[in-house]
Amino acid sequence: QQQEKSALLKAHEFAAKLYNYILGNTDQGKVALEYLRSRGVSDKLIETFQIGYAPAMWDTLVKQLEKRGFDLALMEKGGLISARSEGDGYLDKFRERIIFPICDASGKVIGFGGRAMGDAQPKYLNSPETVLFNKSRTLYNMHLAKPNVRKLQKTVIFEGYMDVIKAWEAGVLNGVATMGTALTKEHAGLLNRNSEQIVLCYDGDSAGQSAAFKSIPLLEEAGCRVNVAMLPDGRDPDDYVSNFGFERFVREIVEPAVPSMKYKLLYIRKNFKMHEDGDRVRYLQTAIKSIAGLASPIEREHYLKQLSSEFPESSFEALKQDLSEHLLQS
Ligand code: GTP
Ligand code: MN
Ligand code: MN
Ligand code: MN
Ligand code: MN
Repeated sequence: QQQEKSALLKAHEFAAKLYNYILGNTDQGKVALEYLRSRGVSDKLIETFQIGYAPAMWDTLVKQLEKRGFDLALMEKGGLISARSEGDGYLDKFRERIIFPICDASGKVIGFGGRAMGDAQPKYLNSPETVLFNKSRTLYNMHLAKPNVRKLQKTVIFEGYMDVIKAWEAGVLNGVATMGTALTKEHAGLLNRNSEQIVLCYDGDSAGQSAAFKSIPLLEEAGCRVNVAMLPDGRDPDDYVSNFGFERFVREIVEPAVPSMKYKLLYIRKNFKMHEDGDRVRYLQTAIKSIAGLASPIEREHYLKQLSSEFPESSFEALKQDLSEHLLQS
């Protein structure tokens, strides 16, 4: 097993270098380079993130691995290549895709994310789980972010590769990504070891906002303090940077990230019609239940006061009584 792991690590390192070389130095790579430039990814970022390109041919990587004496059956198990469906032999797994190497916390390549440049499906093809790559424990860019996270005592979490990379260019050097999967309890534990403060910076669509809502309790149970950055509807960090620039991304999105409680109240609120009495009351009850989960009495009072000034028809005393009933139950 240990031998298999070390052979696979070597192969991943080799593949990352090969793809990066093809992107920067070959005719095949030109279209991919154009694509990256059109998305605002500079040569410097390509270098920093070791971005590459897997060409359209069937067996670019297979041939190179074979030439270097790698055991192809093991390479298939490691998710780098695929067995041909008819006949013997192997095919490259990643073809005609931009390649984002995924590293472990020490910077060793353990998998890849491959983005199609056109409309090919799936948009992203990621390495499968292997002996090297455990998805519920891996966060994209942790190896580069870690020293900055420690220094700033803060981690910013994004959904995807492009978000991390564009935010990096904007000076956000403490960003990692979940790569489209849900944040796990294990992720939360690892994050908490490096910094207590977390900023969730997910896409401004309903999937992203719901993912943020679901990540909050996981992170807080692991001991983190969570703020949530809010993107306008339909935007993600990557295209916010492209459209409005680095400076505005930091000033308008990352810095004003709101405390998790405030975010939860805004999120819950979307399900209620605030001009209808019944909904107003049910929103208040739901909101108070959520506020009751706060550990600090000062915080509870803070949000309760806000609610009462927003809802002049309900007295602070009534809200407080409702809150105390929830506290008694728990
Ligand atoms: P771009 O369109 O390249 O900007 O991608 P994005 O990062 O904005 O993608 P999106 O918000 O759709 O998804 C966020 C992350 O989820 C991506 O970076 C991927 O890691 C992952 N993801 C997205 N689409 C797919 C998919 O089709 N398959 C898999 N396995 N992962 C995906
Ligand atoms: Mn998507
Ligand atoms: Mn998304
Ligand atoms: Mn996105
Ligand atoms: Mn995007």
